[in-house]
Amino acid sequence: MIDFTINNQKVSAQPGWTVLETARYYGIDIPTLCYHESVKPSGACRLCMVELKEGDWSKLVASCIYPVQEGIDVHTETERVNNVRRWIFEMLLATCPASEEIREMAARYGVVSTQMPVHDPDQNCMVCGLCARVCEEVVGLSAIAVMDRGVHKKIGSPFLRPTDVCVACGCCVSVCPTGAMQSIFDTVRGKPAMEMTQLAV
Ligand code: SF4
Ligand code: SF4
Ligand code: FES
Repeated sequence: MIDFTINNQKVSAQPGWTVLETARYYGIDIPTLCYHESVKPSGACRLCMVELKEGDWSKLVASCIYPVQEGIDVHTETERVNNVRRWIFEMLLATCPASEEIREMAARYGVVSTQMPVHDPDQNCMVCGLCARVCEEVVGLSAIAVMDRGVHKKIGSPFLRPTDVCVACGCCVSVCPTGAMQSIFDTVRGKPAMEMTQLAV
C-alpha cells in the first residue's frame, strides 16, 4: 500500500491508483467532468485540480491523472484550488453556455456568470471527448471522434453524417457531462423513428 495524506487525513492507496481514485475511495469530494471510471482518464477538463504541498512550495495537478506516491501531501480545498476551479467554471460557462448541467454545477461552486467571451450561445458541448473514449474503450467501436482544432474543435461521426458503425447503445449519451450528446446523437445515428413514421405514411 502507498500511504499519504489528503486534507491532513491519512489515506492508503493501491499501487497504480490515482489521487482522484483514492479520494473517492475515502469519500473526499473532488469535482470532475471528463472523468469516468470505465475509461482511461484524459485530463481534458482540469476541473479535478488539487494542490500538492511540499514545505513552502506547492503545485496544482489534475488528480484524475496524477499517480499516488508515498508521503505526498494533497489538499482539495485550498485558496489556489478554489481559484482555479472558479476560473475553469468561468471558462466552461463561456465554452458551453447552453448546458444546464454545467450552469447547475458551476452554481453549486458559487460561479453564476463569466467574464470570458462567449462565441456560441447555443453551444452545450465542452468537447471533452469522454463520449468518444467510451465508444472506443467500452463499446469497442469508434463511431465518433473529436475533429478539427481550436475553436472549431467538435465531436461527431465522420463528415458529421449518420454512420452504421454506431449501434445506438446510448453509452455516449449517458456519460456526457453536459447533456450535449443527446442532440449530437441524432447526427450520429440519424433519426430512425422519424424515418419509420415517414415509411408508414
Ligand atoms: S458530447 Fe458530451 S461527452 Fe462528448 S465531447 Fe461533448 S461534452 Fe464531452
Ligand atoms: S450510441 Fe453509437 S456513438 Fe454512442 S457509444 Fe454507442 S455506438 Fe458509440
Ligand atoms: S476530471 Fe480530471 S481533467 Fe477532467
